Amino acid sequence: MYEILVTRKLAPEITDKLSQHCNLDVWDEDRAMPYDELLKRVVGKQGLLCLLTDNVDAKVIAAAADTLKVISTMSVGYEHINIEDCAVRNIKVGFTPNVLNDSVADLAVGLMLATGRRMIEASQAAKDGTWDFWRPYWMTGADLHNATVGIVGLGRIGATVAKRLQGFDCNVLYTSNSRKFDLEQKYGVHYAELDELLANSDFVSVHAPLTPDTNMMFDTEHFAMMKPSAVFINTSRGGLVDQDALYAALSNNKIHAAGLAVTTPEPLPTDSPLFSLPNCLILPHISSASIDTRAKMGLLAAENLLAGLNGQPLPEQVNSASALR
Ligand code: DGY
Repeated sequence: MYEILVTRKLAPEITDKLSQHCNLDVWDEDRAMPYDELLKRVVGKQGLLCLLTDNVDAKVIAAAADTLKVISTMSVGYEHINIEDCAVRNIKVGFTPNVLNDSVADLAVGLMLATGRRMIEASQAAKDGTWDFWRPYWMTGADLHNATVGIVGLGRIGATVAKRLQGFDCNVLYTSNSRKFDLEQKYGVHYAELDELLANSDFVSVHAPLTPDTNMMFDTEHFAMMKPSAVFINTSRGGLVDQDALYAALSNNKIHAAGLAVTTPEPLPTDSPLFSLPNCLILPHISSASIDTRAKMGLLAAENLLAGLNGQPLPEQVNSASALR
């Protein structure tokens, strides 16, 4: 039996699967495991099943370095794990790409529609009595159909968004580390440099991982390049955005609206100025939160862990060369 640490209470089918081969030490609470607890309980473990809320840094890895063979995160993002240290210590790292592409893409398109068409504002107006009678130009917003949409990062999720936007007859621009000729053919998307994409897009949707290169990439300068009518969507990581610059751009009408499923920090404090803006829709990191997708992510995380413990190739192993999700 392998000794493993699971940093959150997961569905019974996941823990049942793991417990056939492992002794489980489960942080049996619904909130994130405190860092000190992680540091203490990882000692002597061969496997770690973690979440994006766990800070698996050099210290945590060092604490278990004598025994740890595999770290499996139930997320596609892995910026919370010190990948370099894992490579040095020959610890395999698993993640959960692909199984969440459709759910995240659905939500990104949902945010485009909800923010473009001002659905939350309109719902609030219906509730608070501001809706008095039908007015010809009240609550008018931006159409997604026929719009130019700029996808920043045409990886697995970005490409799934592009696929959906075909159905809206959008003109899709993309920027990426490399040209994706196959996807250009498949979904009719057009490559553009970032400046060109920002200047021409009615909607800008971010699908890039958080790395030192992308940290705070959406700043005052980039928001200034966008159209005043532009809608900014982020389902990737909050760290890609300078939130003060976003607040300034939204409140000074430099851009029209924003839809965010991710923020810095998470949860975003309720007194964040972003919450005061009617043109900023904020969701609590629920992009992949469909019942089916979260079940698939949990299962894949368990499969990655078991494969690593058994010395087999992981179904989905982090490859530090893979730049885009
Ligand atoms: C991930 O898996 O990294 C996502 O952000 C969860 O929605």
